[in-house]
Amino acid sequence: MAVALVGLPGAGKSAVGRRLGQRLQLPFIDTDHVIERRIGCTIRDYFERHGEAAFRDVEQAVIAELASTRDAIVATGGGAVLREANRHCLVGNFHVLYLRSSPEDLFRRLRHDVKRPLLQVADPLGRLHELHGVRDPLYREVAHAIVETGRPPISTLVNMILSQLELAGVVQLPPQADILVEPDEPASSDD
Ligand code: S3P
Repeated sequence: MAVALVGLPGAGKSAVGRRLGQRLQLPFIDTDHVIERRIGCTIRDYFERHGEAAFRDVEQAVIAELASTRDAIVATGGGAVLREANRHCLVGNFHVLYLRSSPEDLFRRLRHDVKRPLLQVADPLGRLHELHGVRDPLYREVAHAIVETGRPPISTLVNMILSQLELAGVVQLPPQADILVEPDEPASSDD
């Protein structure tokens, strides 16, 4: 079964997803990258030219197409849960992990971000609080499990998630996947 990662921007979806894919020897798919290939420009430019609703339409189409994907790790954009159709699709077709962080931790990671249109405002921390308030219940609604990503390094999170996924019978670790020791990386800002 495919695993989908949901959570606010900066929660670690891409960094964690990429590592999970490596450890499980499964493809890693980032819906934002699929969308950017499709629209032929950056998400930020697309927002500016066509508005958020047009972006959400492309996002919804991409998520619907990925519903038939088996055995992959899929990182979704932070706003994917806003549409009911996406929530329905995620719950029904993926094992969904909510990567949860406080707005303060997210702000610490994203304070220099220029890529995310929704955070290019005078008060990004305030915006993160607002987004958290609206979206936290939606992430919880679709999540099969919640992972706190505030403090632990990525490698610790990945190990925790792998054990949980294996216990839940969602994945099987490939031989030797559990003895890999990898250098740590800071929580990436491109998630
Ligand atoms: C968005 C989050 C972004 C991207 C777009 C909109 C959002 O993805 O899909 O900028 O609404 O929170 P990340 O969560 O990967 O930053």
